[in-house]
Amino acid sequence: MMKKMFLAVVGLVFSGAVMAEECTVDIHATDQMTWDQLDVHVSGACKEFTVRLHHDGKLPKTTMGHGWVLTKVNDKAGVLAATAAAGASNNYVPPNDPRVIAFIPLVGGGETHEVTIDTSKLKHGEEYLYFCPFPGHSATMKGELFFG
Ligand code: CO
Repeated sequence: MMKKMFLAVVGLVFSGAVMAEECTVDIHATDQMTWDQLDVHVSGACKEFTVRLHHDGKLPKTTMGHGWVLTKVNDKAGVLAATAAAGASNNYVPPNDPRVIAFIPLVGGGETHEVTIDTSKLKHGEEYLYFCPFPGHSATMKGELFFG
């Protein structure tokens, strides 16, 4: 009886840990304009989820900065076109642009930044796109995010 209760408690703690982990995504970026996540699936059970962007390289953010911008599929081209004008002081993210669902400011080598997104902003069963807004990076530093 005691053993059964113990196992039940362990099971609850374990499933809680798994849930939290599934609502967090780690993206590791390099000095070669690449990152390791081109396809992210966020569980529809997540009330919010966190994206952590790690720059595993050594170069500073002025020459090899990486950021992360999330948009609807149809908004990506427009937001991307506005990144250069937004400039480094805005992390290459157009300020107060409603097409930007979420973003992570630029990281340089050895740095990590994160953003937590309320999933009520997303539609179930919908695909979104993300990319690095640093000039010239979006061709390789991009990905699809599916929620649901
Ligand atoms: Co980049």
